[in-house]
Amino acid sequence: MKTVIYNIGTLAGILPEGVLKLEGADMNRVGSIDNAYLVIEDGVISEFGEASGHCCIGSYGSEIEYIDAKGGFVMPCFCDSHTHIVYAGCRDGEFRDKIAGLSYEEIAARGGGILNSADLLHQTSEDELYRQSMERVNEIMAMGTGAVEIKSGYGLTVEDELKMLRVIKRIKETAPLTVKANFLGAHAVGRAYRGRQSEYVAMVCNEMLPKVAEEGLADFVDVFCDTGFFTVEETAEILEKAAKYGIRPKIHANELEVSGGVQVGVKYDALSVDHLEKTTDAEIEVLRGSGTMPTMLPGCSFFLGLPYGRAKDYIEAGLPVALASDYNPGSSPSGNMRFVMALGCIRMRLTPEQSFNACTINSAYAMGVSDILGSITVGKKANLIITKPIPSLAFIPYSHQTPIIERVIISR
Ligand code: NIG
Ligand code: FE
Repeated sequence: MKTVIYNIGTLAGILPEGVLKLEGADMNRVGSIDNAYLVIEDGVISEFGEASGHCCIGSYGSEIEYIDAKGGFVMPCFCDSHTHIVYAGCRDGEFRDKIAGLSYEEIAARGGGILNSADLLHQTSEDELYRQSMERVNEIMAMGTGAVEIKSGYGLTVEDELKMLRVIKRIKETAPLTVKANFLGAHAVGRAYRGRQSEYVAMVCNEMLPKVAEEGLADFVDVFCDTGFFTVEETAEILEKAAKYGIRPKIHANELEVSGGVQVGVKYDALSVDHLEKTTDAEIEVLRGSGTMPTMLPGCSFFLGLPYGRAKDYIEAGLPVALASDYNPGSSPSGNMRFVMALGCIRMRLTPEQSFNACTINSAYAMGVSDILGSITVGKKANLIITKPIPSLAFIPYSHQTPIIERVIISR
């Protein structure tokens, strides 16, 4: 099957083959061609270039599907490398508490927060959980997300963590977008283990992880390494065990406090360390030369009123930065990556180019798919956003609520 997209005003996000992430000054460049065409064969980008004298209707034969981009932008789909979109119900009641002035930690300490979602998930059947989650998957695809990482972590018992991970597996098998599963058994201490945190950690290591590994349910392992949740030592214990199963970490670090999560993540070769609302220069130093992608979640900063990560300082230090939505019912109830891109510019002062790269190639890296997604490159999957005609790349975050997405192509 061949598809030709013609009449492309600007083809943006072009990268040479083999570039898996962009760092430092390179983050400020977005390769593009004006007046372009692009050819897709069997779901893969097979050719693209400037249109003049090369591509027009009919030149590829009549059995081919032609898509008129009508002068719009064509760019790679967003890759959302950090989400919790498999959850049951919502936490709109806590939203009222939050507005009334309670902090995220205070809501959690009262038994709300993650434990509230765990109770709801426990009462929800696997089929219903899949149905609710697929609504969110369809929602994010319509907004241009072509790959998503999804975490467990609202189960907190062996059975319920497996239930979540099986739902993620089913999404992987049925949804057109690319899905990676992340086992986050250490998201909070389950209710039955209240006051027995070290026993809970032992259970994560000795009961949950072996079962998750045996069923092949996780691409990654995660720990909420932060004040009031899990310590650096507990994180190391879990990552040590996961390494025995060959499962690479992606860590929640430095959301609430400077937690040591970045250092332990880098030590265990985490693919990414995520959140980083609180960062000292020590975290920047330890990330230098590592293969770990610093990932920031501005939707969480926005919703919880937390500081925004120091993305610009990271980039100035020569590091890469990825952005992701953190879509979850407690700290970021939105999976709109265009809004994330806009927050990257407006609140973190990234240039549109830096924010674009953070939401595409670098977030693809942060979920281990930048060899097949995240840029316009021959041989990569044709996951593409076609926009209405827009004046520039900057218009995408600038006019972030304007419905400019004309079509999203996601190739299985
Ligand atoms: O990334 N910080 C930990 N986990 C999620 C929030 C989960 C929740 O509140 O339901 C986050 O912000
Ligand atoms: Fe998260």
